[in-house]
Amino acid sequence: MESIDYAKLPQHIAIIMDGNGRWAKERNKDRVYGHHEGVLSVREIVNVSAEIGIQYLTLYAFSTENWNRPKEEVDALMELLVNTIRKEVNDLNKNNIRLCVIGDMGSLPMKCQIEMKEAIDLTATNTGLTLILALSYSAKWELVEAIKKIATAVKSDQLNVEAINDALISAHLSTAAFPDPELMIRTSGEHRISNFLLFQLAYAELYFTSTHWPDFRREQFLQAIGDYQNRERRFGKTSEQIQTNLTNVDESN
Ligand code: IPE
Ligand code: IPE
Ligand code: MG
Repeated sequence: MESIDYAKLPQHIAIIMDGNGRWAKERNKDRVYGHHEGVLSVREIVNVSAEIGIQYLTLYAFSTENWNRPKEEVDALMELLVNTIRKEVNDLNKNNIRLCVIGDMGSLPMKCQIEMKEAIDLTATNTGLTLILALSYSAKWELVEAIKKIATAVKSDQLNVEAINDALISAHLSTAAFPDPELMIRTSGEHRISNFLLFQLAYAELYFTSTHWPDFRREQFLQAIGDYQNRERRFGKTSEQIQTNLTNVDESN
């Protein structure tokens, strides 16, 4: 905990929680057992985030492509989702955590939709961490939806083509109410984005670890934040420009 700088925390961290299946396989267990263990990591990472003052945490829980998995695994994941939300909602409230969802909610089983909606409503006025679950989410789906809305507005003369800019596109994404993540973590060793937040990650720092999600806990999370804090975010400028700005800020304090 000593190794992180509380004044330089990322506002928004996004995580691709990967490796539940491999974690279980290494223990000669069923993939679903890995998903159950993964929930323990979710709980810990959510609580640590709230405790240290992260404002937004987006967790990739189920992608559009994950519908193509065997039916038994999809059913088990949906069941796990419903049960977890039901069990955790009181703790979310206790910890002042607001739950939000991004993704194609209409494609989830009705039971999940009802449970999610209830938990979102019950936590809506909480003012601490905003926990955003990406469910039946894919960035290409989200961009297609946004482009359709923008095109419809242009066609009906409610929007001028010249008014289309970066901010307008952001405002049409499912993440419109949240700032872009500064840090994206992917566990379990794959170096890819897997259709997650393509537009929003444009300038995020990417952190990859070989640790499987069920083993990714407080210590590994703080290590990722520490790594992020040691990077120089240049946004196209030179290192000298960044250093000069930092010196000026220090001197004016
Ligand atoms: C992540 O773990 C959880 C989901 C995608 C739902 P995986 O299930 O992808 O685990 P691996 O990658 O097969 O090990
Ligand atoms: C990405 O993991 C989706 C989630 C973590 C929910 P996957 O395991 O589905 O991604 P791929 O198949 O390795 O790209
Ligand atoms: Mg995977």
